[in-house]
Amino acid sequence: MAGITRRDALKVGGLSVAGMAAAFLGACGSQAGSNAATEAATSQAANATSASAAAHELTIDQNSKLLARSEFIGLDEEVQLADGTKKPAINFDNGATTPSLVSALEAIQTHLPMYGSIGRGKGQKSGWSTEQFNNVRPVVLDFFGAPADTYTCAFSGTATDGLNKISGALCEPDSVVLTTRSEHHANDLTWRAHAGEVRYVEVDELGRLRMEEFEQQLADRQVNIVSVQAASNVTGYVHDVHEIARLAHEAGAIMVVDGAQIASHRAFSLKGETEDQDIDFFVCSAHKMYAPFGGGCIIGKTSLMNEHVPAYRGGGMVDVVTDYDVTWLESPDLWEAGSPNYLGAITLGKSCEALKQVGFGAIEAHEQTLLRRALDGLSQISGVTLYADSNSIEDRVGVLTFNVDAVPAADVAERLANEWAIAVRQGEFCAHPLCHRLMGYTDEQILAERDKPDFSAPAMVRVSMGMYNTEQDVDTLIEAVGKIAQG
Ligand SMILES: Cc1ncc(COP(=O)(O)O)c(C=O)c1O
Repeated sequence: MAGITRRDALKVGGLSVAGMAAAFLGACGSQAGSNAATEAATSQAANATSASAAAHELTIDQNSKLLARSEFIGLDEEVQLADGTKKPAINFDNGATTPSLVSALEAIQTHLPMYGSIGRGKGQKSGWSTEQFNNVRPVVLDFFGAPADTYTCAFSGTATDGLNKISGALCEPDSVVLTTRSEHHANDLTWRAHAGEVRYVEVDELGRLRMEEFEQQLADRQVNIVSVQAASNVTGYVHDVHEIARLAHEAGAIMVVDGAQIASHRAFSLKGETEDQDIDFFVCSAHKMYAPFGGGCIIGKTSLMNEHVPAYRGGGMVDVVTDYDVTWLESPDLWEAGSPNYLGAITLGKSCEALKQVGFGAIEAHEQTLLRRALDGLSQISGVTLYADSNSIEDRVGVLTFNVDAVPAADVAERLANEWAIAVRQGEFCAHPLCHRLMGYTDEQILAERDKPDFSAPAMVRVSMGMYNTEQDVDTLIEAVGKIAQG
């Protein structure tokens, strides 16, 4: 039985929405003045359509070849310091979340007048919005180098949501999953929840993945799924997930990549150089890509997405439901149960367009400059311990972690905010096993201490960069940390 997909829902009375809009506007135009309500709707549709067609012109800073700072919202917004004075905030917490692009917010403004239900409605607004929503899919696929004849883009919440959906769909009770000790909890606890067994590849003393272990761990061919981050939110290391995919495929496993920390920092393609290096599933978070409106996506091989039914269920993913039976739709619908985050998808598309226009050559070069400057400056300060490899940084995105002797990380972060308006993050960044290793704590030590009343969790300070951060931002950070280290 043929299913009605959201794509079919775009068709109203046999016309595509674009055709329908033209017919609708034409028909209403010939009856001008005959019906006030219709006229209002017509002009609203025309305005919204032309507004969305008039794409925001992105301004590139000709010196840096990056987006001009004016393309981001709130970069020069002042915040209040502890002494009551105000200063523009310096944001070094981009690994957690990034400010919005102007173009993303403008897209929201231009899309809201014609906002309607996605996929299931027959009204004009519903049709128009559904078309806009679906039009983002090829943009995202193209941005992540995922050919549309092989891959499908399903919109999700952030990376955590995507990884929960993927692990729920792929895992059987006896599934064996191989991941690493470098992962964010989103790519670890999810598998612990759904798999029969989770195995881990270790990191070395500088926090780099022990790549040789993948081959060893896959040798018994019992692993069903391999899931690895493309870049770490603690060390910034970029991982060779295509080589890991090759090994996974050789061992008969599915390859999943957590792309949360790569998406706005380095070019990433799901296609490998050879077919066995192709990534099977990928997730990202739009709020780490300058579109903080709750969006994200799952990109997967279409064949696999149709084969595996997500444990996350509800309306929109089914063809027919009888009292005791269900026929599923194909992906992307199968992976988008419930009402989707329309504005999250629209703004994710805008962010992909903006990042593509800038190009990752300029972004990577800028981040390397900032990272080198920050590591060099911080390493000169007596009492500062830097984690991960500070010498060879080509394989690092703009993230660094450190501690100051005898000053708890929480105090460092608080003083940076209160006295210099610098936002960083402190703690273990939802990657406890990796942070424990970098700081030299064993599980035994943590478990022995954890239930004591005076237990304070290990912590470090994280500086994570965005493309709009400047060398001046880095210099202010170095100066501030120097003062904190002096006591
Ligand atoms: C590597 C990595 N994976 C997954 C996540 C989870 O992302 P989100 O909180 O947007 O779901 C993060 C968040 O910091 C991350 O850094």
